[in-house]
Amino acid sequence: MTNTAPPTADAHPAPGAGDFAARAHQVAKVYGHGDAQVVALDGVTVGIPRGRFTAIMGPSGSGKSTLMHCMAGLDSVDSGQVFIGDTQVTGLKDKHLTRLRRDKVGFVFQAFNLVPTLTALENITLPMDIAGRKPDRQWLDQVIDTVGLRPRLKHRPTELSGGQQQRVACARALASRPEIIFADEPTGNLDSRSGAEVLGFLRDSVRRMGQTIVMVTHDPTAAAYADQVLFLTDGQIVDTMTEPTAERVLERMKGFELPGVGAR
Ligand SMILES: Nc1ncnc2c1ncn2[C@@H]1O[C@H](COP(=O)(O)OP(=O)(O)OP(=O)(O)O)[C@@H](O)[C@H]1O
Ligand SMILES: [Mg+2]
Repeated sequence: MTNTAPPTADAHPAPGAGDFAARAHQVAKVYGHGDAQVVALDGVTVGIPRGRFTAIMGPSGSGKSTLMHCMAGLDSVDSGQVFIGDTQVTGLKDKHLTRLRRDKVGFVFQAFNLVPTLTALENITLPMDIAGRKPDRQWLDQVIDTVGLRPRLKHRPTELSGGQQQRVACARALASRPEIIFADEPTGNLDSRSGAEVLGFLRDSVRRMGQTIVMVTHDPTAAAYADQVLFLTDGQIVDTMTEPTAERVLERMKGFELPGVGAR
């Protein structure tokens, strides 16, 4: 494989471009009306390179989760197009959209979204059970051991800690080896050791298996596991960084902490 230049905010992801597992073209998303109107995405054009680990960073409220939801076909856009592979997600009818999400997309939500009545193991294999697909046992074992869930497989989500629930959510996304995994702060609730294990595993699945992963994070150390970082501010991609280190990411983020942006 050639070492092509990474996509930037002004990359032109023309339909049919094969190097991207997912693409957004001029995507806009507005919530609410009148005074309550919020422009969550303001014309985002970006390609997610296949077989790479991409991190998305930006202040709280900058549109990171919205971008992930729109790219994964979990939320509609107001204008623009989204593609997963060669399939245009925007405009797909419900049935096809459901099938696309089920077969090609793994998602780790900011709020884990586990099914409370199912055990950890049942939650992990749920997407494949719905699709009527048998899990690859060896891979499933590897996923379970890496996220350290072996002793908790029979527990229900309410019997698990926040970090354990997040690990179930990561395992669920990885188990079926989807074309692309969107992970919204997958290590936000983990202690640094479990976080490092999950991140190392995500990175390995990219390096060894060619998995494509997009991950939102606020943590420069987590972002440093990625091959590239996209920076989002006010619903726009304002910068990209390849081969990030925690120091460089931190330095770059300081530049985005402008008055009124992401103020806490
Ligand atoms: N369902 C909704 N209705 C109205 N506004 C919304 C809705 N979802 C998100 N927003 C607004 O859209 C903007 C982007 O939200 P989003 O959740 O994408 O931010 P984020 O970058 O993921 O933030 P965080 O880092 O806090 O998770 C925010 O201003 C938010 O308040
Ligand atoms: Mg978010």
